Amino acid sequence: MSSSICILFIFMVLYILSVHVGPAEATFLPLSTESRWITNGYGKRVKLACVNWPSHLEPVLAEGLDKQLAYYISARVRLMGFNCVRFTWPLELPLNETLGNLTVKQSFQRLGLNESLAGIEVHNPWIVDLPLMTAYEEMLAVMERKGLMVILDNHVTTPGWCCGLNDGNGFFGDEYFDPKMWIKGLMKMARMAQKFPNVIGMSLRNELRGPKSNVDDWYKYMEQGAEAVHSENPNVLVILSGMSFDKDFSFLHNRPVNVSFSNKLVFELHWYSFSNGNAWKTGDSNKLCGQITASMMDSAGFLAKEKGYPIFVSEFGVDMAGKNVGDNKFLSCFMAAAAEQDWDYAVWALPGSYYFRQGTKDMDESYGLMNHNWTAVRNITTLKRINALRLPFRGPGWNRTVQHKVIFHPLTGLCVEKRPVKGPLRLMPCQMSQMWTYTANKTLEITGTHYVLGSSGKAEKMVPLTVSLPHQKATQWDMVSDSKLHLATKAEDGSELCLDVDRYGLVITNKCKCMDGGDPNCDPASQWFKLVNSTMV
Ligand SMILES: *[C@@H]1O[C@H](CO)[C@@H](O)[C@H](O)[C@H]1NC(C)=O
Ligand SMILES: *[C@@H]1O[C@H](CO)[C@@H](O)[C@H](O)[C@H]1NC(C)=O
Ligand SMILES: *[C@@H]1O[C@H](CO)[C@@H](O)[C@H](O)[C@H]1NC(C)=O
Ligand SMILES: *[C@@H]1O[C@H](CO)[C@@H](O)[C@H](O)[C@H]1NC(C)=O
Ligand SMILES: *[C@@H]1O[C@H](CO)[C@@H](O)[C@H](O)[C@H]1NC(C)=O
Ligand SMILES: *[C@@H]1O[C@H](CO)[C@@H](O)[C@H](O)[C@H]1NC(C)=O
Ligand SMILES: *[C@@H]1O[C@H](CO)[C@@H](O)[C@H](O)[C@H]1NC(C)=O
Ligand SMILES: *[C@@H]1O[C@H](CO)[C@@H](O)[C@H](O)[C@H]1NC(C)=O
Ligand SMILES: *[C@@H]1O[C@H](CO)[C@@H](O)[C@H](O)[C@H]1NC(C)=O
Repeated sequence: MSSSICILFIFMVLYILSVHVGPAEATFLPLSTESRWITNGYGKRVKLACVNWPSHLEPVLAEGLDKQLAYYISARVRLMGFNCVRFTWPLELPLNETLGNLTVKQSFQRLGLNESLAGIEVHNPWIVDLPLMTAYEEMLAVMERKGLMVILDNHVTTPGWCCGLNDGNGFFGDEYFDPKMWIKGLMKMARMAQKFPNVIGMSLRNELRGPKSNVDDWYKYMEQGAEAVHSENPNVLVILSGMSFDKDFSFLHNRPVNVSFSNKLVFELHWYSFSNGNAWKTGDSNKLCGQITASMMDSAGFLAKEKGYPIFVSEFGVDMAGKNVGDNKFLSCFMAAAAEQDWDYAVWALPGSYYFRQGTKDMDESYGLMNHNWTAVRNITTLKRINALRLPFRGPGWNRTVQHKVIFHPLTGLCVEKRPVKGPLRLMPCQMSQMWTYTANKTLEITGTHYVLGSSGKAEKMVPLTVSLPHQKATQWDMVSDSKLHLATKAEDGSELCLDVDRYGLVITNKCKCMDGGDPNCDPASQWFKLVNSTMV
């Protein structure tokens, strides 16, 4: 067998194995938390790798049922490597019986969505005459049968696209956001979810925002909402969002949430390129990544790092066509942080297309995992890259090896591989990563050996593994640039060389890119590496 066929074969086996890792996770429910980790009934970490599946727009039906079988879509979610769905709902669904009692057919007819309705009649005729509330529950049953865990997410009050600063849905006391009604709706949904053990969490309200925002009301109502959900359904994780569109939890530095129960609270964070306005489009990647990551850690990341709560990045995403410059820069930075912190996450979004969004019928979702017609994955490269975050790097029950580092490459989602001592080093899926120790001397040593990551001392040359002999100076690697994501060493001529990857996926040293920060079009991402703590190789 030639080596390339051999490698292909190994990949196929790994792929098949990895796709089937999931169902067991969903078996030992309910989930709870153990410090910053979400764990199953055996105390083993379950890493949530979810997609957002909207069901909160005007028609109030899970999107895509006009294009594909509900079962097909659910199976596809699993095949794409996800183990869960953040399934959105509008508050009116459980509260407004006139709405909840409308059949799917009536709901689409009243909106003039006859084309979508015709599609649903073809692909999912079973759902057409069900009331909207029943249709929502039946979708939970479909996902349960496909082994998907579900988080019920109260996305808005009135069905429709979210979120504007002044849309009356933003904060407690807004025109369409009466805290009493909200609690009533949460309790109804929590009670309903008792029938579905695969519903493992409820996120209380999406993206709090707007002029009424204030910290005292956040504590008052979030604590009430959390207690209400827990009292109706003590099995589910209770997921709290922050202020300012789910970016800001800084108020929790000094004042904890006070609830009567424990081991169930999770915090959800949203992080997009546009969370920072146009900064990513126009700014220097190294500088932005350094600044924005630090500010995210201070406003949200500290909850996992210091306070012992899990963080669920319940929305992040990019334009899948790769045409949005800001998104492209953002994603590499996000991947570095998400891998390092080993956060649970949900990608925005599963569709495809929406029946009706912001006045447009059959609207395309450029951030969608599925293509417009829900027939295939929109961008397999980007999906694979995101999938690098799917398996835990560490956590309870995932101690296969001693604590070490993997050298993670955010641009590809790959890691510097494990291989025999001879030959060039490559990038490979992180399950095949080498175990590294970053020593006090700044050398990168294969854990438990005397082999270190060497340097050719020249640009565009592969890096060797060398034996570090006592009293001999081994290659030192510094984390440099404003992003601290460049691993730099000294060239023979005394200049700086950075770890890089060539077009064949070989690890090389090269001239450091974009170090002066002057050119916003300079893309350093091929030279970005993150040393990630792992116990999983
Ligand atoms: C909704 O349907 C339920 C069950 O069929 C019925 O009891 C209730 O009166 C209906 N409510 C409205 C407002 O139509
Ligand atoms: C209930 O839903 C119906 C159908 O969407 C709508 O016409 C009505 O205004 C809603 N009622 C309230 C109180 O929101
Ligand atoms: C939907 O309605 C429009 C306008 O009423 C009509 O032209 C079109 O043929 C209808 N499509 C279907 C699939 O019924
Ligand atoms: C937490 O809430 C309980 C019950 O409402 C209350 O008795 C207690 O004083 C609160 N603790 C703090 C630190 O606010
Ligand atoms: C997928 O994304 C990559 C990276 O952004 C981009 O280069 C590529 O063109 C995209 N492919 C498709 C089919 O959109
Ligand atoms: C990684 O491990 C080191 C050493 O144990 C520790 O200081 C650091 O905080 C860890 N990083 C994260 C993100 O857990
Ligand atoms: C989606 O399907 C429709 C109808 O079959 C077809 O006309 C259209 O070209 C397809 N669009 C894409 C983006 O594949
Ligand atoms: C496994 O890892 C967890 C979290 O990283 C740690 O708390 C625990 O002590 C480790 N257990 C063993 C047996 O090493
Ligand atoms: C650092 O290097 C010095 C000599 O170069 C060696 O004596 C020492 O043991 C090294 N320390 C570590 C932690 O590797």
